Amino acid sequence: METRSATSHRGLLPWQGLLLAASLLTFWNPPTTAQMTIDSVPSDAAEGGDVLLLVRNLSANSIAYSWFKGETVTSNNQIAAYLVADGTTTQGPAYSHRETIYPNGSLLFRNVILGDTGVYTLQVTQPNFLTEIASGQFRVHPALPKPSITISDSNPVEGKDSVVLICEPETQNTTYQWWINGQRLQDGNRLNLSDDGRSLTLFNVTRNDTGPYECETWNLVSGNRSDPVTLNISYGPDAPSITPTDSYFYPGTNLNLSCHATSNPPAQYSWFFNGNHLQSTQELYLPSIAANHSGSYTCSVHNPTTGLNRTTTKNITVIEPVSPPSIQATNTTVAEEDSVVLTCLTGDTGVSIRWVRDDQPLRLTDRMTLSPNSSVLTIDPVRREDAGEYQCEVFNPVSSRRSSIIRLEVKYPVREDSDLSGGAIAGIVVAVVAGVALIGALAYFLFFRKIGRASDQHDLTEHKPSVSSHSK
Ligand SMILES: *[C@@H]1O[C@H](CO)[C@@H](O)[C@H](O)[C@H]1NC(C)=O
Ligand SMILES: *[C@@H]1O[C@H](CO)[C@@H](O)[C@H](O)[C@H]1NC(C)=O
Ligand SMILES: *[C@@H]1O[C@H](CO)[C@@H](O)[C@H](O)[C@H]1NC(C)=O
Ligand SMILES: *[C@@H]1O[C@H](CO)[C@@H](O)[C@H](O)[C@H]1NC(C)=O
Ligand SMILES: *[C@@H]1O[C@H](CO)[C@@H](O)[C@H](O)[C@H]1NC(C)=O
Ligand SMILES: *[C@@H]1O[C@H](CO)[C@@H](O)[C@H](O)[C@H]1NC(C)=O
Ligand SMILES: *[C@@H]1O[C@H](CO)[C@@H](O)[C@H](O)[C@H]1NC(C)=O
Ligand SMILES: *[C@@H]1O[C@H](CO)[C@@H](O)[C@H](O)[C@H]1NC(C)=O
Ligand SMILES: *[C@@H]1O[C@H](CO)[C@@H](O)[C@H](O)[C@H]1NC(C)=O
Repeated sequence: METRSATSHRGLLPWQGLLLAASLLTFWNPPTTAQMTIDSVPSDAAEGGDVLLLVRNLSANSIAYSWFKGETVTSNNQIAAYLVADGTTTQGPAYSHRETIYPNGSLLFRNVILGDTGVYTLQVTQPNFLTEIASGQFRVHPALPKPSITISDSNPVEGKDSVVLICEPETQNTTYQWWINGQRLQDGNRLNLSDDGRSLTLFNVTRNDTGPYECETWNLVSGNRSDPVTLNISYGPDAPSITPTDSYFYPGTNLNLSCHATSNPPAQYSWFFNGNHLQSTQELYLPSIAANHSGSYTCSVHNPTTGLNRTTTKNITVIEPVSPPSIQATNTTVAEEDSVVLTCLTGDTGVSIRWVRDDQPLRLTDRMTLSPNSSVLTIDPVRREDAGEYQCEVFNPVSSRRSSIIRLEVKYPVREDSDLSGGAIAGIVVAVVAGVALIGALAYFLFFRKIGRASDQHDLTEHKPSVSSHSK
């Protein structure tokens, strides 16, 4: 050490050599006041940042400061020396043009590099040429490069493949954090994280694992984050759906069937009619369809990457709208207890018939019967409550039409035909005569009572005017 310091004296100015010599010759000078210390701010720095080595308890009247790299005070380790008297700084062999000594002795490092990590020693020269030394240290951590994600399988298949995501590069003393869809990773059944957190395994991926994924790296002083990556997971096709959903169409309609299946990559579509291949398109357009277009239409979807096929079949019936039926009755004016037969006549085939009374669906009673195809309605016996307006209605899945109205009248006697005995009739006659006599007697009584009252009233009214005028 002494040999090395001796040879290195050449580069120093005379006063520095003197100071150095003094320091080498002088034994440790126990401080009378608080001991000088060095604090590094910060003590862990990111590459490219600044570090200030702060001097605490610097003794007053110091005449010079000298900073050294390392724990030893040797001339070739010297960074720079500062002379308090004129505020001049003299660079030493370890100077890197990034250091500044302040008048208070502190040393500033700008734009630190990894190699700056280590211990730094300050030697302070007192007026009596005794020296005091103290050391401090800091560590420079690499600025983390922007990480990137490598994917083990760039085209995984849903329900089959597992995928490993690795955050690159591997750096020491780095923690790794994953983000999925902007959320910090939660460990799940199908997720596995390596011990160092750098690799993430997705077991048996589903379409919901598409991402995006980001990885983040951290060391003591800095962090960085990768660009997001998404997985191109192949899935499907799911069962296709066919639009429109209607099954019955009029002849002459332009049929435009569209098929859709969720799939990645997009499914390949083909159409079959009654099992025969029609065309390989997503949409099927059949202009002006006729009855012979009725049948089963199948949409078949295929995902070439997953190798899966799915189909959906739709039965379509092309059917004419119905024409209005006609209605007949055996008799529209029937006597109660007779019967009547209503018949619905239609030229359409494949139609159904229902009956309507007074614009409401007919409620069948136990006196009504329908023929098997509902075209004949028999009411037997007819009752007066069966009177009303009857219609029949024919319908098929696309249309319905009603017949004209038949008005059914039911005749019944106004009052019951009587089979009363002659005695009873005589009794009624007697009762009527007696009744008439009674009424006559009553009328006679009321008449004379009224006359009598009128004469009484006449007497009274003679005095009444004065009373009434008085009252006015
Ligand atoms: C010394 O001077 C520097 C630069 O002006 C300043 O940042 C620091 O706080 C001062 N104090 C000490 C104790 O070094
Ligand atoms: C992340 O890394 C890139 C490239 O290495 C760098 O330009 C960027 O400043 C870094 N970001 C952070 C926050 O450290
Ligand atoms: C993967 O998941 C699918 C459904 O998501 C399941 O049917 C299959 O059994 C799973 N395979 C394995 C190996 O776990
Ligand atoms: C990582 O940390 C350990 C212990 O703190 C240290 O010894 C090692 O030098 C560090 N490595 C890097 C590259 O910073
Ligand atoms: C994906 O997520 C949706 C909604 O959370 C869920 O309904 C569906 O079952 C999931 N699919 C798979 C394949 O896991
Ligand atoms: C996803 O993978 C499929 C199957 O290899 C491929 O056809 C498709 O182009 C890929 N999509 C993207 C966006 O890379
Ligand atoms: C069929 O319907 C689709 C939408 O459902 C439409 O884009 C297309 O133009 C239609 N084709 C014809 C020939 O009308
Ligand atoms: C799936 O569909 C494709 C294309 O339509 C066809 O070539 C293939 O034979 C079908 N595979 C199966 C198993 O039906
Ligand atoms: C209809 O029935 C009524 C009473 O039952 C009867 O008098 C009339 O002759 C019938 N009319 C026809 C056309 O049958």
